[in-house]
Amino acid sequence: MPLPLSSAPRRRAACFLRRFALLRPPHITARLKPQAHRAHQKKVKTTASLPLIRRPARPMAPRKFFVGGNWKCNGTGDDVKKIVTVLNEAEVPSEDAVEVVVSPPFVFLQQATGLLRPDFAVAAQNCWVRKGGAFTGEISAEMLVNLQVPWVILGHSERRALLNESSDFVADKVAYALAQGLKVIACIGETLEQREAGTTMEVVAAQTKAIAEKISDWTNVVLTYEPVWAIGTGKVHDGLRKWLQANVGPAVAESTRIIYGGSVNGANCKELAAQPDLDGFLVGGASLKPEFVDIIKSATVKSASA
Ligand code: PGA
Repeated sequence: MPLPLSSAPRRRAACFLRRFALLRPPHITARLKPQAHRAHQKKVKTTASLPLIRRPARPMAPRKFFVGGNWKCNGTGDDVKKIVTVLNEAEVPSEDAVEVVVSPPFVFLQQATGLLRPDFAVAAQNCWVRKGGAFTGEISAEMLVNLQVPWVILGHSERRALLNESSDFVADKVAYALAQGLKVIACIGETLEQREAGTTMEVVAAQTKAIAEKISDWTNVVLTYEPVWAIGTGKVHDGLRKWLQANVGPAVAESTRIIYGGSVNGANCKELAAQPDLDGFLVGGASLKPEFVDIIKSATVKSASA
């Protein structure tokens, strides 16, 4: 059930790639239009204000490429069957090279779990902040564990913006879900206004800090940078890793996967996957289409450069 893609996501993805150009070798950057590149340079904030901490010479633990498919509020039981059939028949890199997690709406979690190949996992798109009870309409972390759902997405920008979930609330959810044994895809990201005000790093650092204050073990966290207006830069990923290094510790900074979400598709995934400090994707619209398989395959770009 491919969703019609408006031109906005395409524009956002193109812009994202332009922003990444600052990290490209000069021969690739030279292909950009000079005026676009200059405009881009003006807008991008540096992370110079972040404490500069030397990275360890060798990674302490390899970060396995992660590809999440966020189906959001889409689909029917038949659509689940169709999408899962495509995934089950796909030839993709081995589990050693890529971890794949798809996130259907709550009502299809069990169906998807039953049909999906064993090397792919499922995630819920949200869960309640604490133990269940009189919270009409909510789903508790315990229920997800009971259904053997291993992952949950928390703090997605749509929930922060549309349902007013604050950073503290999201952080409480992350801590509670982890304590129940769930693995968490924790989303952070700035709005367009914050971006334009030059406060991107401040905003994402504050969102990460709220989480860091409530958890001590990052093993089961994948940090997802999803700018609300879907434009990221390699610098933000680099800045986040430096923030973790300075504020949580070098081991966590080295081992925590920091992935990107926002208009990732079959056409741009390889170029994005090659960016330093980017350990995978959270994919929305394209995760409902066969091109999600190409996005999973982009893990080979990372393994080839390792
Ligand atoms: P998109 O959504 O890939 O459709 O931009 C990503 C997300 O919001 O998780």
